[in-house]
Amino acid sequence: MASATADSVAKILSDLNINAGDWPPNLVKNLHLLHPDQIELAKMLVDLGQSHLFQHWPEPGVEDEQKKAVFAQVAKLNSSYPGGLASYVKNARELLADSKEGKNPYDGFTPSVPTGEVLSFGDDNFIKFEEAGVKEAQNAAFVLVAGGLGERLGYNGIKVALPAETTTGTCFLQLYIESILALQEASSRLSQATCQKEVPFVIMTSDDTHARTLDLLESNSYFGMKPTQVQLLKQEKVACLDDNDARLALDPHDKYKIQTKPHGHGDVHSLLYSSGLLNVWRDAGLRWVLFFQDTNGLLFKAIPASLGVSATKHYHVNSLAVQRKAKEAIGGITRLTHSDGRSMVINVEYNQLDPLLRATGHPDGDVNCETGYSPFPGNINQLILELGPYIEELTKTGGAIKEFVNPKYKDASKTSFKSSTRLECMMQDYPKTLPPSARVGFTVIDTWLAYAPVKNNPEDAAKVPKGNPYHSATSGEKAIYCANSRILQKAGVQLEDPVKQVFNGQEVEVWPRITWKPKWGLTFAEIKSKVNGSCSITQRSTLALKGRSILLENLSLDGALIINSVDGAKVKVGGSIQNKGWIVESIDYKDTGFPEELRTRGFRINKIEQLEESYNEPGEFSLKP
Ligand code: UTP
Repeated sequence: MASATADSVAKILSDLNINAGDWPPNLVKNLHLLHPDQIELAKMLVDLGQSHLFQHWPEPGVEDEQKKAVFAQVAKLNSSYPGGLASYVKNARELLADSKEGKNPYDGFTPSVPTGEVLSFGDDNFIKFEEAGVKEAQNAAFVLVAGGLGERLGYNGIKVALPAETTTGTCFLQLYIESILALQEASSRLSQATCQKEVPFVIMTSDDTHARTLDLLESNSYFGMKPTQVQLLKQEKVACLDDNDARLALDPHDKYKIQTKPHGHGDVHSLLYSSGLLNVWRDAGLRWVLFFQDTNGLLFKAIPASLGVSATKHYHVNSLAVQRKAKEAIGGITRLTHSDGRSMVINVEYNQLDPLLRATGHPDGDVNCETGYSPFPGNINQLILELGPYIEELTKTGGAIKEFVNPKYKDASKTSFKSSTRLECMMQDYPKTLPPSARVGFTVIDTWLAYAPVKNNPEDAAKVPKGNPYHSATSGEKAIYCANSRILQKAGVQLEDPVKQVFNGQEVEVWPRITWKPKWGLTFAEIKSKVNGSCSITQRSTLALKGRSILLENLSLDGALIINSVDGAKVKVGGSIQNKGWIVESIDYKDTGFPEELRTRGFRINKIEQLEESYNEPGEFSLKP
């Protein structure tokens, strides 16, 4: 499109009802450089009180291309926010005014404990829900939010590329994809479907993670998933704000750019809505959307049972949760009832829960109850939404999620900020706009089974107060071995007690390094069916089961055992296996001789001796040394 001529500028101004005298003179001087659609965007900015963005513009002829480029960014900011920049600025002014006033978002609300399902791993109830969940899995779509920078972790790569554990080196993304594929397969087997439905997998990325996520998928053949089954949706950043009047901030490094920052994982809802995928899924007969985060290597151990709870209890929203110690730095799932009759079940951040309880007749605030835990379940931010009601709600909201703003004020007058701020939103705030009739519940799962995210760098993790979780690469990997060991123990395998060891300044329990492919065992019932007779594994042992049909029968393991098998190979593993094994050796995270992936966990696995067998053909085999 051509730039406007002087005459057409005059016409555009009169068509748009603009009195050029009210406009910033530097913008007016340059107007003839702009296309009509750019002039419209300029009008929008001026109307929104953003004239300062043009104040520094030099005379025409100087940096003209940069001036025009501003509008490409403005157009993008405008189209990627529900309601456009006008809504963004309006919302920002309201939230900034509330923040200045010190308004409490929970004023008038009384907290109480909502109803939900509390599961205990391995009991009959758990097994029943797991079976129901596996049946439903073919009607599910999975959504991974992976747009976060991971500043606390400080890893140079993307978080989903980090090994979940270093015994097999499986990265988080591979683990997630293999888990979804295993669920898909088990689900169609259980429901005796004639053909396997492909379970859709969406990854929300951002400019910080998109290219590297795509590259990780492509260079690994999508870890066995069909590329058409995976869809990447990139979230955009939002404009930064310089003051309480929501004046947009210019990028300190480029005065022709508006400074932007991430808007938070709540963007996933508007992105899914605008992508049109939700309707495609509904038309394909899907019923559930499962949201999860980038670095929780345990999550899929909790998925079958939690999905079973959603299906059985007809929850529109099911928040996965763990038992929470009072004052633990994890949000509590809470029912909030307003004096005007409004009510919602929502995550209340831990720093807000205590004052809220104190202000509403609980003088002790956030304390444990007779169970030794807070009565409010700890939110782990993995959500299962029923697709129909989800679409219904998003049709009303466009996927916009209640936002918050967290400005760092220069002083008590709260008139200026130390640095620019922006609006943010969280995926778990989705239920805030739901009607009281919505069925919002939770599922509490044992922490050791469900939650061990990798969020903190070694230095910060080492400073975590004793008894609180480290949430580091060290604890994340150890938690996988611990969970697998405890699952096998419950299935009847005798295990030695773990030993305590310190890595990167963090004391952790070291269990035998037991890992398996998701297709070996997704549910407790399946795992139990693959353990026979009297089996035992010593603490110093390593066991990696990389195949579907591997039966452990009267196995006594003291060393390292690795089994690789193709799907058609049925392998019975038993007898006494002893070798020097694989040793966990401490390393210093400052020792740059080791790769960052190892330094960040503070140990490496020294593979001294192992028994490794591969079964590459279908058939029945027995390994009995
Ligand atoms: P985290 O709370 O771990 O935040 O996000 P983060 O931004 O990744 O890490 P820090 O706070 O900088 O250390 C929880 C989940 O939400 C995703 C993350 O990738 C992670 O899976 N996320 C976060 C997004 O997808 N987009 C965002 O804007 C923020």
